[in-house]
Amino acid sequence: MKAIAVKPGQKNSVHLRDVPKPKVSDIPNVRGVLVKVLKVALDGTDRDIDKGEYGNAPAGDDYLIIGHESFGIVEEVGPNVKEVKKGDFVVATVRRPGKGFYDTLGMQDLTSDDVYYERGINLLHGFFTEYYVEAPDYLVVVPDEFAELGVMTEPVSIATKAFEHTIDIQRRMGIWRPKRAAVIGAGPLGMLTAWKFRLERLDTSVFSLEPPDHFKAKLLGEIDAHYYCATQDPIQKIADKLGDFDIVMEASGYAPNVVDACHAVSKNGVVILSSVTPKEMKVEVPVSQINMDFVLGNKIMFGTVNASYHHFSLSVKDIGYGMQLYTGWMEKLITHTLNGLDQYEKAMYLLNNSGKENALKIVIKVADHK
Ligand code: BGC
Ligand code: ZN
Repeated sequence: MKAIAVKPGQKNSVHLRDVPKPKVSDIPNVRGVLVKVLKVALDGTDRDIDKGEYGNAPAGDDYLIIGHESFGIVEEVGPNVKEVKKGDFVVATVRRPGKGFYDTLGMQDLTSDDVYYERGINLLHGFFTEYYVEAPDYLVVVPDEFAELGVMTEPVSIATKAFEHTIDIQRRMGIWRPKRAAVIGAGPLGMLTAWKFRLERLDTSVFSLEPPDHFKAKLLGEIDAHYYCATQDPIQKIADKLGDFDIVMEASGYAPNVVDACHAVSKNGVVILSSVTPKEMKVEVPVSQINMDFVLGNKIMFGTVNASYHHFSLSVKDIGYGMQLYTGWMEKLITHTLNGLDQYEKAMYLLNNSGKENALKIVIKVADHK
């Protein structure tokens, strides 16, 4: 079968290759589920992998099949599988357990190991192919009615986890009523986080480099989120004018924005760091001032990566709620749908030129479900 792969560490190495079709029996204890891939979406992580700055091949292979945002249909299940059945739409989680304590509890998104295993990213092949086999423990069922948006489950799960952890952390307060939230960066994760914050009824502002009349600014207006072009209206300026933010989510991929996030977060507030920034970068920061603000303001900053099975299920529920509250909105984030795995070069082009091409979520339709 066909698969799209890279040679990790090599720039622009993305290529189409032929790989063996997996079998249900590849999974121990007759727990295999064969999934036919219907759609795969791309994100900034794929861009980093394409640049050769991120990602590793599985042991014994010199290539990595990419793709971690999947949507597919169950085609066959092993006799010991009760959780899903043939014909179910499913999304696979991304991280698989290593050997650490949290991994053995199914909490590999919080692994304390240095090595982590992520399908399509690190040490495990991904879903940018025709079929994959997986244990049902890593498959989340998506209702038929959500089929159009199923491929958004993985990116939503990142926003869902970020919010849930924020609430968990803030239980330290006893009572905490966040009102104002900010998101730095208007890539897919920034847009989805803004949407999640709006589902949680937060007054939400997004800061990014695109001009104020950009289509993403208009999209944010449709869910009553504010958009600020950060070169004219940086987050600190708006925080000074309208008040600090109870939550600031950094999702721009540009590490120096962390400093701005620290300056704009309110007392008792939370800064969420979610960008993977593989490139080395150094800036000078007013460290004493940041320290004083955080100490005297009881502020929190935490990092978040990946998402557990639980967050994937929550994200399916968020998508359902969002479909009712903001009908038709998430569909508009999918700016490009390409037909067939053969379109991988076009997809990578769009990903690497997303500004110029007005590309937000790029989806490859791998197969029809009939
Ligand atoms: C993926 C996560 C992953 C992270 C770091 C993100 O793009 O959505 O599942 O943990 O990259 O590799
Ligand atoms: Zn991702």
